Amino acid sequence: MHISGVFNLTPLVFIIKLSAADPGAPIPPTAWSAASKKASDFVSQLDLSEKIGIVSGGYNTPSLPCVGAIGAVKRLGFNGLCLSDGPTGYSRSDGASVFPSGITTAATWDKHLMYERAVALGEEFKAKGAHVHLGPSTGPLGRSARAGRNWESFGPDPYLAGVAMDASVRGIQSRTNTTLDDGTIIEGISSNIDDRTLHELYIWPFANSVHAGTSSIMCAYNRVNGNYSCANSNILQTILKDELAFPGYIVSDWYATHSTADSANTGLDMEMPGNVSALAGPAFFGTPLLEAVNGGMVNQSRLDDMAKRVMAPYFLLGQDQNYPTVDPSSGAVFSVYQYGHGYSLPFTYPEVEARGVRGNHSDIIRQVGAAGTVLLKNKNGALPLKDRMNIGLFGNDVSYPVVGSVFRDIGDSPEGYEMGTLDVGGGSGTVRHTKLVTPLEAIQKRVESTGGRVQMLFDNDIVAGGLFRTIYPTPDACLLFLKAFATEGSDRSSLELQWNATMAVESTAAMCPNTIVVTHGPGVVLMPWADNENVTAILAAHYPGEETGNSIVDILWGATEPSGQLPYTVPRNASDYGAPIVDTVVDEKDPNAWQSDFVEGQMIDYRHFDAYNIDPLYEFGFGLSYTTFEMGDILEVEIVDGPLSPIANISLGMIPGGLQDLWTTCAIVKGQVTNSGDRAGFVVPQLYLSLPQESTPAGTPLKVLRGFEKIFLEPGEGKEVKFELMRRDLSFWDVNEQMWVIPTGAVNFLAGFSSRDIKAETKFSLID
Ligand SMILES: *[C@@H]1O[C@H](CO)[C@@H](O)[C@H](O)[C@H]1NC(C)=O
Ligand SMILES: *[C@@H]1O[C@H](CO)[C@@H](O)[C@H](O)[C@H]1NC(C)=O
Ligand SMILES: *[C@@H]1O[C@H](CO)[C@@H](O)[C@H](O)[C@H]1NC(C)=O
Ligand SMILES: *[C@@H]1O[C@H](CO)[C@@H](O)[C@H](O)[C@H]1NC(C)=O
Ligand SMILES: *[C@@H]1O[C@H](CO)[C@@H](O)[C@H](O)[C@H]1NC(C)=O
Ligand SMILES: *[C@@H]1O[C@H](CO)[C@@H](O)[C@H](O)[C@H]1NC(C)=O
Ligand SMILES: *[C@@H]1O[C@H](CO)[C@@H](O)[C@H](O)[C@H]1NC(C)=O
Ligand SMILES: *[C@@H]1O[C@H](CO)[C@@H](O)[C@H](O)[C@H]1NC(C)=O
Ligand SMILES: *[C@@H]1O[C@H](CO)[C@@H](O)[C@H](O)[C@H]1NC(C)=O
Repeated sequence: MHISGVFNLTPLVFIIKLSAADPGAPIPPTAWSAASKKASDFVSQLDLSEKIGIVSGGYNTPSLPCVGAIGAVKRLGFNGLCLSDGPTGYSRSDGASVFPSGITTAATWDKHLMYERAVALGEEFKAKGAHVHLGPSTGPLGRSARAGRNWESFGPDPYLAGVAMDASVRGIQSRTNTTLDDGTIIEGISSNIDDRTLHELYIWPFANSVHAGTSSIMCAYNRVNGNYSCANSNILQTILKDELAFPGYIVSDWYATHSTADSANTGLDMEMPGNVSALAGPAFFGTPLLEAVNGGMVNQSRLDDMAKRVMAPYFLLGQDQNYPTVDPSSGAVFSVYQYGHGYSLPFTYPEVEARGVRGNHSDIIRQVGAAGTVLLKNKNGALPLKDRMNIGLFGNDVSYPVVGSVFRDIGDSPEGYEMGTLDVGGGSGTVRHTKLVTPLEAIQKRVESTGGRVQMLFDNDIVAGGLFRTIYPTPDACLLFLKAFATEGSDRSSLELQWNATMAVESTAAMCPNTIVVTHGPGVVLMPWADNENVTAILAAHYPGEETGNSIVDILWGATEPSGQLPYTVPRNASDYGAPIVDTVVDEKDPNAWQSDFVEGQMIDYRHFDAYNIDPLYEFGFGLSYTTFEMGDILEVEIVDGPLSPIANISLGMIPGGLQDLWTTCAIVKGQVTNSGDRAGFVVPQLYLSLPQESTPAGTPLKVLRGFEKIFLEPGEGKEVKFELMRRDLSFWDVNEQMWVIPTGAVNFLAGFSSRDIKAETKFSLID
């Protein structure tokens, strides 16, 4: 009936930013109209040059000490806008927190913690005086497991990322244009994606973000189906502004604008960074935009629309009332971070004490860090650890980083540094540490204060060498900490843990029959040693943020029950993972050589493993607890206000996020979970949907996540779990109708504890 072809469409990779004033809280659609009215009134009082200033970074204004700035209009009491990185905390600053990264947050599968983290993040940005938080991130989705920025966003599943985006917000993976010595401009890579994949996979979490009230969205460096994403009418206008009814503004990633009138007319509302003297690059808005308007290439009503879209969130989020000024230390910290002490900039900033904004955020950071740690293996009750043990503490991921408090910026070192723990990735998304509790510090304190002993060995090559001359007696448990670095600006060279990690595990296990491996990494890492008989426990701790030591102690000794679940699949072999990265081309002199064809459609991560029947090492959704759970085999499906029509009721109108009826709860699925062990713990029952292959076009995944809850149960306790499904959750994107459609035929509802551990199953026809 329908054919899903490779259409000429699409984006990929934008950053979403939620304004700092109110992170995560859904904004009622009516609040937008009031804010838009205020923005209209404001814009109507501006002259042409002032309007240009509202939409062009650094235009006619002394720049604020922010990574991006919009100038003030003092006569109207507007002090400008300060835009700051990044998704994991206030970058390049002092007195701010390093939060758990996006992938860690996704691994909690905990909507409440996702929200609380976002609230704390937003508090810090607001207290620093930033109006726009360049985060949270979604878009790359981990299509390629080696992608350098996967850790910043919420993993490869659109539903999980959508829930995480709804509770928080941001992201990117990029490759922009370069110039050869002979002057040939090589265009940025083009992500070539069909319309159905675009909707069901990559746009999905953006729709949640718009629905949640995100005030701005960032377009990316790459091209989408041939056009730069910041000048792509299909993505910016047709999908974001028309189909999703996005009322805020679209801002370019830094230097991702490549044209003036084309960009403005296809939907770009703000260029960043624009005219910033210290970081000068080509500016396409500012003076060129003024000329384009004067020359009739961009009309007045489009310029007014751009300025109104930029101003509406400012009023929507109450930033016109008593908003903190930008922390005066920001310029000096930024300058030292970027250039070192004594560097003479065209502007000088006084070295003043930073405004401390961390409050009690260490509590939520510690909680999310622990909750995002996934217990993958636990043999013979190796964990939790007991008091008075002789602990071996091994590996180069334990101590304070020898490079100091920050992992520096883009391209600094694609492989990272050898010695020191990894709690955050690199690039513009990294955050300077004002505080860092290392695993060394926290574990030593925990063990020594409760009558135990710690023996240490941090050089991975010595561990890998296997002689352990300094270790005696053999520890009761050997904790081996290993890491994999990832950063903006380069992709990982492999999926392996770094620094001789595999040999280090094998050597440790040969000496120590109770070897416990803890990994700090950006997402998927290979574990060829997972089945080693002496590796008794494995914890994937991701990038936990500044309380990393306390978070892991809480899990190791069981003060916090492990409850993380994998937000991606760990393969047995790198070649099991689909969608390779395009990192070489045949003809480097061909301006259009860089093409990334998303021919796999929706088959990424578990959809790929399901489609090709590949046995994963640890599957999407998997994670152990210190107790055990059971699920009843009965699943009840109820239709709300049935019978359902296959498509949304269009007369209910549009809201931010698209047709209102897409967000209506249409079905409720109920099951039963029980704690069958003798210890309290958290369980994450998951609901997957299998749409009928017969009544959907080719390319429908075998199953997709469509619900999850995190539930605490005492030993023996049972509870009902209830999944609410909205219309979009039950539909596929029909490329001919350009509509979400609920298919006819029996839909299979599958509930369980991971994408491969299905405990209950019910077939149900939603449409007669
Ligand atoms: C661009 O920045 C430079 C240096 O800060 C400044 O002198 C100039 O006035 C700016 N131009 C515009 C149009 O804002
Ligand atoms: C990228 O392309 C723009 C024009 O679109 C050009 O002005 C700029 O110099 C190019 N950048 C690089 C690094 O080649
Ligand atoms: C892509 O760019 C070309 C050339 O500027 C333009 O004609 C076309 O409409 C653009 N397509 C989209 C989807 O933006
Ligand atoms: C102004 O330009 C936009 C973008 O090209 C276009 O959609 C719109 O119809 C134009 N409006 C007027 C009044 O010409
Ligand atoms: C942190 O402090 C705020 C008040 O400043 C309070 O509402 C919140 O509950 C505290 N959070 C934690 C985790 O203690
Ligand atoms: C791994 O460790 C072994 C044993 O110390 C050493 O011989 C080897 O060079 C190391 N390999 C790498 C890649 O560092
Ligand atoms: C596991 O430990 C035992 C006892 O120390 C040892 O004999 C055996 O060789 C180890 N196995 C591996 C795979 O290292
Ligand atoms: C992993 O895949 C490679 C390439 O397909 C193959 O040569 C190798 O044997 C595989 N290794 C394992 C452990 O399956
Ligand atoms: C669609 O919504 C309109 C407006 O609420 C309502 O009057 C109408 O009955 C609805 N149609 C269906 C088929 O539910």
